[in-house]
Amino acid sequence: MTNLIVAVDGPAAAGKGELTRRLARHFNLARLDTGLLYRAVGWAVLQANGDPADEGVALAKAKALTAADLENPDLRSEAAGSAASKVAAIPAVRTQLIDFQRDFAKNPPGGAAGAVLDGRDIGTVICPDANAKLFITATAEIRAERRLKELQAKGVEAIGSAVLRDMMERDARDAQRSVAPLEPAKDAFVLDTSDLDADAVFAAAVDFISRKVT
Ligand code: CDP
Repeated sequence: MTNLIVAVDGPAAAGKGELTRRLARHFNLARLDTGLLYRAVGWAVLQANGDPADEGVALAKAKALTAADLENPDLRSEAAGSAASKVAAIPAVRTQLIDFQRDFAKNPPGGAAGAVLDGRDIGTVICPDANAKLFITATAEIRAERRLKELQAKGVEAIGSAVLRDMMERDARDAQRSVAPLEPAKDAFVLDTSDLDADAVFAAAVDFISRKVT
């Protein structure tokens, strides 16, 4: 069996994380949350008191990125998410991160049967030849509600209206940037999860991938 590559793209808090963790277990795939790469670059810029929209500092941090940087729990913060979407709009930063992602997909670690990558441009730019491409989405209100619950579960105090506003700002930045904007690949299975629970999303995704690879 050849290396199975599954691309999962979509906006913030659409349920890609939970879905890709389950897909990784089910199909024995290595999983890469590519958002962490941009979060780590954005966070490193903030730590250096830099402006995440400044190409010089963002590119330097992207070049200096190591695997250990991806383990930092602070990367999950909303500040890191917002900085991530700013550094992610810089073409040179995206180019710098391409090889790491493609190499992970082609040579998945740990003897896995393939790789599942979670991001915004996996099906369109990083792995255009992926065996299966999914685009996971939901209304902004529902995504904001899910993110709010995630934050509250972690004990982070957050206000629903502010989470929704930040998410819509980030979505707009991701969709409007000139390079690798957030959009479904032409051959992606678009799944609106607004009215689906995690089990139903997983079942639909497994069904789609299984039909693609047999
Ligand atoms: O977890 P959440 O869905 O909120 O965000 P994430 O996947 O961690 O991504 C954070 C930010 O990184 C996004 O808003 C994008 O701007 C950027 N990103 C990207 O441009 N390309 C990717 N493949 C992954 C993330």
